[in-house]
Amino acid sequence: MAPRIDIVTIFPDYFQPLELSLIGKAQADGVVEIAVHDLRQFTDDVHRTVDDTPYGGGAGMVMSPEPWGRALDSVLGEDSVLVVPTPAGEVFRQSVAREFVETPHLVFACGRYEGIDHRVVEYYRDRVSVREMSIGDYVLGGGEVATLVMLEAVIRLVPGVVGNPESLVEESHELPGVEYPNYTKPASWRGLDVPEVLLSGHHDKIRQWREDQSAERTKKNRPDLLD
Ligand code: ADE
Repeated sequence: MAPRIDIVTIFPDYFQPLELSLIGKAQADGVVEIAVHDLRQFTDDVHRTVDDTPYGGGAGMVMSPEPWGRALDSVLGEDSVLVVPTPAGEVFRQSVAREFVETPHLVFACGRYEGIDHRVVEYYRDRVSVREMSIGDYVLGGGEVATLVMLEAVIRLVPGVVGNPESLVEESHELPGVEYPNYTKPASWRGLDVPEVLLSGHHDKIRQWREDQSAERTKKNRPDLLD
């Protein structure tokens, strides 16, 4: 079944990159179906207001529950997973990408400002599976870029999207650590030579070299993965 993806945002233009490259082709081939919805279409005042001041005080604005309720009622089905990008969410990892690719319908709710009134998450939690997701320990201006990141990670796992499925296996975060370095032609560039072993055609030695490189890189760049 082709995964269906709905995105609700006040900035639909953020999602133009989904027309490009692998994801653009996947859409054109009907392998995935993506629809972007403007939250402001679900407002009911002339100013198309989507936010208000926070209860309890504090800086910034909070997105109002009413337009979100109308928008999500219109896109969610019984089997949907509602993904809410937020720096307060669980960390998005390759394992989550593998879970999401098995989901027939993903709905991304992109908040801006100080986020969405929390009752929206509470309300839909009783109705569908809700995943509050963070793409890392930093604060973005909103959920749009985080949604693009997650979609790119998920959609390349859809069968048929990446030409050679083997390239999905031997890469960082599918291995125990991070991936070994890769090289292509020319064999010599600006005085730097491709490691000899890679030119040897000796498959066992190449496999061993790659394992060693992967271990070394993991130790240097991502010691947290070794714990
Ligand atoms: N919105 C703002 N910052 C974010 C982050 N780090 N991850 C997901 N959504 C966000």
